[in-house]
Amino acid sequence: MIQEECLSIVTVGHVDHGKSTVIGRLLADADALPDGKLEAIRENCRRNSKPFEYAFLLDALKNEQAQGITIDTARCFFQSGKRRYIIIDAPGHIEFLKNMVTGASRAEAALMVIDAARGVEENTRRHGYFLSMLGIRQVAVLINKMDLVDRSQRVFEDIRAEFEAFLAKINIRPAAFIPVSGMEGDNIAVRSDKMPWYEGPTVLEQMDAFAPIPPAEQLPLRMPVQGVYKFTQNNDSRRIIAGTLESGSVRAGDGIVFYPSGKRTTVKTLEVFNAETPERFVAGQAAGFTMTEQIFVRRGEVACRQDEQPPCVGVRLRANLFWLGRQPLSADRRYHFKCGTAKVEMRLEQIERIVNASNLSCQLRQYVEKNEVAECILRLERPVAFDLAGGVDATSRFVIVDGYEIAGGGIITEALEEYDFDTRNIRWSGDAMTADERARLGGHKGLVVWMTGLSGAGKTTVAQETERRLAAQGVHTYILDGDKLRRGLCRDLGFSDGDRAENIRRVAETANLFRDAGVVTIVTLISPFAASRNAARRTIGGDFMEVYVRASLEACIRRDPKNLYRRALSGGISSFTGIDSPYEAPENPDLILDTELWSEEECVETLTDAILARLKDETIRI
Ligand code: ADX
Repeated sequence: MIQEECLSIVTVGHVDHGKSTVIGRLLADADALPDGKLEAIRENCRRNSKPFEYAFLLDALKNEQAQGITIDTARCFFQSGKRRYIIIDAPGHIEFLKNMVTGASRAEAALMVIDAARGVEENTRRHGYFLSMLGIRQVAVLINKMDLVDRSQRVFEDIRAEFEAFLAKINIRPAAFIPVSGMEGDNIAVRSDKMPWYEGPTVLEQMDAFAPIPPAEQLPLRMPVQGVYKFTQNNDSRRIIAGTLESGSVRAGDGIVFYPSGKRTTVKTLEVFNAETPERFVAGQAAGFTMTEQIFVRRGEVACRQDEQPPCVGVRLRANLFWLGRQPLSADRRYHFKCGTAKVEMRLEQIERIVNASNLSCQLRQYVEKNEVAECILRLERPVAFDLAGGVDATSRFVIVDGYEIAGGGIITEALEEYDFDTRNIRWSGDAMTADERARLGGHKGLVVWMTGLSGAGKTTVAQETERRLAAQGVHTYILDGDKLRRGLCRDLGFSDGDRAENIRRVAETANLFRDAGVVTIVTLISPFAASRNAARRTIGGDFMEVYVRASLEACIRRDPKNLYRRALSGGISSFTGIDSPYEAPENPDLILDTELWSEEECVETLTDAILARLKDETIRI
């Protein structure tokens, strides 16, 4: 079958940016079309007095099974001089996205098409994010329609600089930026002599340069344990470990480590049921082996080789998942997480982003609905061994079971905490002292006081005076102020919903470190979204106090200490909280300070007392 030795490449880009023309041109110029086909289509266009376009090629070839090329709705198989390709037309195809995110199929590289005359648009960025989410690292960016911009090097370089900077933020470093014209055929399969300033590869050369995913056999051994069987005859105490090799190979004498337990042994003999014992097992085979030491392992562990890269082990992980469940995925339900042969209880800890599978728009809320893709953090009840997307396929892929239903599937992108095999504890790597020890040293524990409210509500004013009062009582404090952080830690962020969510996430993580260090950390951030504040509470845990600094919008507009409302109302600033960006007041804050009804002094005193009470009641075990 053709598929077997194919490199699969996904194409992304807005239709209007000329994706079909580029692909049509590629097929024609790479000599991938059946003889006479191009002429026949040209002739057909002439007879119908339609101008010929390369984009028609794809349509004209659909469902045709000719030598060397097949095209169906979203895929096109063809052969270049070097190898075979599957070109997949991606975004907007829910099935494709589902298959990619659940690991059922995999694209090894991507071509992104951008219109030189229109430059980087919102959609272009979404498509970039989409590739990053799918873990596709080999990307070529085709800046198309160069003929419409006089094949200008400056236009090309400007778009390249802008898009390169964006992609870097989402961890994509394109292999090439290529100036092309689908219409004219520049730099697609044939080098253009009209852009002598460009020295890089043509599209076809770049495609041929993409590396295929190495065969599973060359990856480290991963054999999820399916079962452990005992020999039943002659008082034989040996056990056989059985499972399927998802990757790698194993032979007698190999040192083995089982994860997550970390137990070690050596392979004594390879075993097969009713067949001759092979010299080694390789990826794809169902296998069994006996061990030199009879250690106790169970189904769900993964057998790995001591001389190879180990898997990750942990209980918290970042994942991209595709949700199929009838009930939305939410933090208040319990699920089962299945990876390899392991099955453990799982909770959704946090949703970081939700992507609508049909138009790739992003949003943030607290549950994921059917046919949505979400980037989220999952927390498992017990440690599991897994790999990260882009490594071993089977062990970086998981499914989520809700009751008896498979409700979602996805790929693991990051291990968030490490597992310590010696103490059997989950720990932050390198963290020697505990928060309790620090509290004893410092005289009180750490606490995060999260002050939310409109701009001009008085968060900073109250925080600064409160800090002085606390300091006077010997409390270690620090203020993490929104305005200040936005000049440093968060200076790459703006005020879109997504950027605010990221701003709040970073500040929550930072506040949590300060808390861990034993500091009473006062955060003053508009933090307009309830979901983000709840996420902050989850990050920080029990030592968190949500304080709503309340003032009506009218009052804030009247005060307008930084002259920002005036500018926002006259259109000088957009997405301004309260004006054209929402503020969701906390429903159940730990404390409300009403700066319209109360004086500054009353607010400061109330807050100082509340903080001191929290420090006294629960902490100090000296
Ligand atoms: S948050 O929404 O992400 O929590 P943050 O508290 O960091 O906001 O920053 C708010 C501060 O940024 C405001 O006090 C104001 O000085 C400034 N600012 C500039 N543009 C905006 C805007 N569009 N909306 C809100 N604040 C803005």
